[in-house]
Amino acid sequence: MAEKSMYERALELFPPVALRATAIGVDRGEGIYVWDENGRKYIDFASGVAVVNCGHNHPYVVQKAKEQIDKLIHGGHNVVYYQSYIELAEKILGHVGSDYKIYFSNSGAEANEAAIKLAKQVTGRPGIISFKRSFHGRTLATTTLTASNAKYRRHYEGLLPSVYYAEYPYSARTGLSDEEETARCIAQLEEIFHDLIEPEQVACMILEPIQGEGGYIVPPKSFLQAIRRICDQHGILLAFDEVQTGFGRTGKIFAYEHFDVKPDIMSLAKAIANGFPLSAMVAKRSLMDQWPAGTHGGTFGGNPVACAAGTAVFELLENGLADHAATMGSYFKAKLEKMKANHQEILDVRGLGLMIGMEFVTKDGKPDAKLVESLRSIALEKGLILLSCGVSKNVIRFIPPLIVTEEQIDEALAIFDASLEEALKQR
Ligand SMILES: Cc1ncc(COP(=O)(O)O)c(C=O)c1O
Repeated sequence: MAEKSMYERALELFPPVALRATAIGVDRGEGIYVWDENGRKYIDFASGVAVVNCGHNHPYVVQKAKEQIDKLIHGGHNVVYYQSYIELAEKILGHVGSDYKIYFSNSGAEANEAAIKLAKQVTGRPGIISFKRSFHGRTLATTTLTASNAKYRRHYEGLLPSVYYAEYPYSARTGLSDEEETARCIAQLEEIFHDLIEPEQVACMILEPIQGEGGYIVPPKSFLQAIRRICDQHGILLAFDEVQTGFGRTGKIFAYEHFDVKPDIMSLAKAIANGFPLSAMVAKRSLMDQWPAGTHGGTFGGNPVACAAGTAVFELLENGLADHAATMGSYFKAKLEKMKANHQEILDVRGLGLMIGMEFVTKDGKPDAKLVESLRSIALEKGLILLSCGVSKNVIRFIPPLIVTEEQIDEALAIFDASLEEALKQR
């Protein structure tokens, strides 16, 4: 009898909740490629969900992590200080600004938990404004903030109180101009303040500067700037969830840099350490200094090895990787836009840097999740790993490692193009 695959073994071991997008059992990864247990090579345009921005097992990140392993694996950030923890904090704050401080934890959800706990603690206000189609994690509090699928909340209701959901622009769907779309969303926010919660009762607004799971939606600059103004007017703290957009993904180190809007609080995770579990919450020094000792914490936050890897990631980003992502993003997007011109079923190609979404619709303009699923599985058969997103699951997201080259983009696009033709024939 043939040996069981990792996938077959996993079915016996893990619950359906630990669902994944492919059945690949990965043996090793290098750059933009992974190899499965049978030695088959795949192009990985999922990057472990926007995590391995420097590419799988980037040699410099591996070297720095190994050096740290030889020195110290765990010190405990409730117990001692250590060099890599301080170095990474200095790097990130050196970029964001000396008027900010940082708190390390382990996951994106945990960073968002820290963000809203800080906001509540410092303002003494109960309310939180989140945004429709947002995704902020799967702990109970971040499940409350998340508004992209009722499935995430089913049987968990009775969540965090005083969370309200505001409109987030989606001009590809509404067909409105940037100004009209901003006005529509801000009018609905004003309604929330009038009908549901007075702004003086709101601790913070939390939003992704570009929506990730919600469909790779880039809002107009005017929207984020209006949100900043409203927050300032009412003493509401502005928190950006940069868990998916951060660390060069959009062609700048952080996505807020595209919009001339700086948040008071920012959550970071995913690509921060190129695969080592690490996250951070960055916030204005004036807020952080009011956060009493012991009112938040965690055993594993800021692991020494993860921080050493994170410092290596930051050096690579500063030394050209973020700029490279911007250049490759323009190259990639231009090619995808050309494809759109020849395909009615492509509603929109959007994104910044190497965070690009392609939205598919049926002949009558409805979200076409079926086409996206068949396209994804055909591409996988041909050796290209892709993920989908969007509340209707009808958006293909392209999130290759930022080290990707033009030749590799072309290689992936040839597969994608052939897969789309095949998927359309089968439709
Ligand atoms: C924008 C955003 N915030 C938060 C999270 C949750 O991060 P984690 O899965 O590390 O808890 C995600 C994960 O996909 C995300 O995309």
